[in-house]
Amino acid sequence: MPLLEIRDLEARYGKAVALESVTLDVHPGEFVGVLGPNGAGKTTLLKAISRTVMSTGTLTFDGHALGACEPHQVVALGICHCPEGRHLFPELTVRKNLELGAYLNRSRRAMAADLEHVFALFPILRERLGQIAGTLSGGQQQFLAIARALMGRPKLLLLDEPSVGIAHKLKIEIFDAIQTIAASGVAVLMAEQDAQNTLRVAGRAYVLENGRIARAGTSAELAGDDHIRRIYLGL
Ligand SMILES: Nc1ncnc2c1ncn2[C@@H]1O[C@H](COP(=O)(O)OP(=O)(O)OP(=O)(O)O)[C@@H](O)[C@H]1O
Ligand SMILES: [Mg+2]
Repeated sequence: MPLLEIRDLEARYGKAVALESVTLDVHPGEFVGVLGPNGAGKTTLLKAISRTVMSTGTLTFDGHALGACEPHQVVALGICHCPEGRHLFPELTVRKNLELGAYLNRSRRAMAADLEHVFALFPILRERLGQIAGTLSGGQQQFLAIARALMGRPKLLLLDEPSVGIAHKLKIEIFDAIQTIAASGVAVLMAEQDAQNTLRVAGRAYVLENGRIARAGTSAELAGDDHIRRIYLGL
């Protein structure tokens, strides 16, 4: 049974349709990409799931109807959203940002174990615990944003263009770390414009164009699709 089941999702901004007839599944522990050009509706899709954008259609997560949920209830069900532009607390330390990602009332011991888990993925964060988040490099801030989302112990992690504006070497590190996260059992739904790297690390992907799913398939299938090769891979 899918962990996340989306059927006929539709979202509008005023009269403008941003998503139409979107149907999509994510299974437990699966790594799924959402590709598409600027304005395709990727961010709107993730926001509809985290209930920060209104939508119609069905959104079911782990047996719960998300449509009736407030954003904080979505988090409590196990969905953590790592938004476009990271949204860290730039004046606070790395440690404080991580602690704010954890549930309230988490015991010191559980907090320490969760910190160890994110340091294993992003060792640089351990070295920078006392540094003010806003002074980290762009790539390091992205590590921190993903790590903070993991501190909430999600069943499903929503990532919005984690590699945007990041140098190639760090980009590869970020994609590889996300693949490790998914391999550890956390389902990942990742919006990206970097089709090449997404199809390298994700198991499956959907391609959004003008608010509709234009293509869907395994990464291998999409990497062999003429339309994808031409438009997204530049081959
Ligand atoms: N708050 C808003 N008010 C009005 N229109 C919006 C709003 N947010 C997004 N849109 C429009 O909805 C459409 C989908 O936008 P969305 O941000 O979901 O695309 P995206 O795929 O995430 O693009 P990008 O890759 O540039 O982040 C676009 O046409 C955009 O202009
Ligand atoms: Mg976006």
